[in-house]
Amino acid sequence: MTSTYAVLSEGLEKRFGEVPALRGLDLAVPEGSVCGILGPNGAGKTTAVRLLATLLRPDAGSARIAGHDLVREAAAVRERIGVTGQDTSIDGDLTGRQNLHLFGRLHRVRGPAGRAAELLDRFGLTEAADRPASTWSGGMRRRLDLAASLVRRPGVLFLDEPTTGLDPFSRALIWDVVRGLTAEGTTVLLTTQYLEEADQLADDIALVDRGRVTHTGSPAQLKSLVGAHAEVVVPDAGTLAKAAAVLDRLTGAQPSFDHERNAVGAVSKDPTLTIPLLVRALDTAGVPLLDVSLRPPTLDDVFLRLTETAPHGTTGTTDERECAA
Ligand SMILES: Nc1ncnc2c1ncn2[C@@H]1O[C@H](COP(=O)(O)OP(=O)(O)O)[C@@H](O)[C@H]1O
Ligand SMILES: [Mg+2]
Repeated sequence: MTSTYAVLSEGLEKRFGEVPALRGLDLAVPEGSVCGILGPNGAGKTTAVRLLATLLRPDAGSARIAGHDLVREAAAVRERIGVTGQDTSIDGDLTGRQNLHLFGRLHRVRGPAGRAAELLDRFGLTEAADRPASTWSGGMRRRLDLAASLVRRPGVLFLDEPTTGLDPFSRALIWDVVRGLTAEGTTVLLTTQYLEEADQLADDIALVDRGRVTHTGSPAQLKSLVGAHAEVVVPDAGTLAKAAAVLDRLTGAQPSFDHERNAVGAVSKDPTLTIPLLVRALDTAGVPLLDVSLRPPTLDDVFLRLTETAPHGTTGTTDERECAA
């Protein structure tokens, strides 16, 4: 049963003094998939990665990583994982090539020089390879850091916000590498604040809020949990409030305004909302219309809607376990 999951955690808890950073984290990441952990700042994403990568000990709960117990078999877990956090493990005095070579030798990788060259190439770092890493840009250092975590060909890779603050070139390169890794069968668990990144890379997404997984599913499944995004454009500002009242009633959601365009929109809670229904209701309310549209929700819409349904202090949110369908 555990062999099908590269990461399987149950009830992981971690406190820092008074702060409950994780309050029972349940995750199940199938082998060879990419799980995106998506959550606001302070949700517990980094704590989750640090626990699962054996860098912190859990206060309660258990986990198996690549078939090994996180606590009792921590050494075996460490041998099978790679981890890249936001603090780089690169030695700036050494060149990029020397850094990777050193990692390879430390971990007794066969052919460390060849492996270093291969990774430098894969991450677009060959040209700069023989300059000290301290002279590299932030994006290049982050790529080198990720390359270092791959020297040993880990079965499970943990990436904590791998592209936060990166230039578009480095981001695209890291996305490519992640896609390539999964094609080779590596399991990737990544945290991100970028919905687009989760949408692009993740097979399954776990929404984490206040130390718990509140929703899981594929990007498409999460999008299907909310209805369409409805928008109404009126000819003048005077009728915008009236249009908003209609939208509010039909969608059950707080409308948001774009005053420059005299537009008001809302993500519908009701997946059966249609344009004719909208137009009829607006017409009945005497709202003059320039345009009415319904478009599929983005992950942004989903995130706003689903985190809105998990208000502070409640515990009875959807409690599915798997970072999987
Ligand atoms: N070393 C620490 N000491 C005290 N509090 C911490 C520590 N690390 C994290 N926290 C707290 O735990 C919570 C979760 O943090 P973190 O896992 O870093 O969230 P995220 O990565 O999702 O932003 C936050 O409230 C944070 O302030
Ligand atoms: Mg973090």
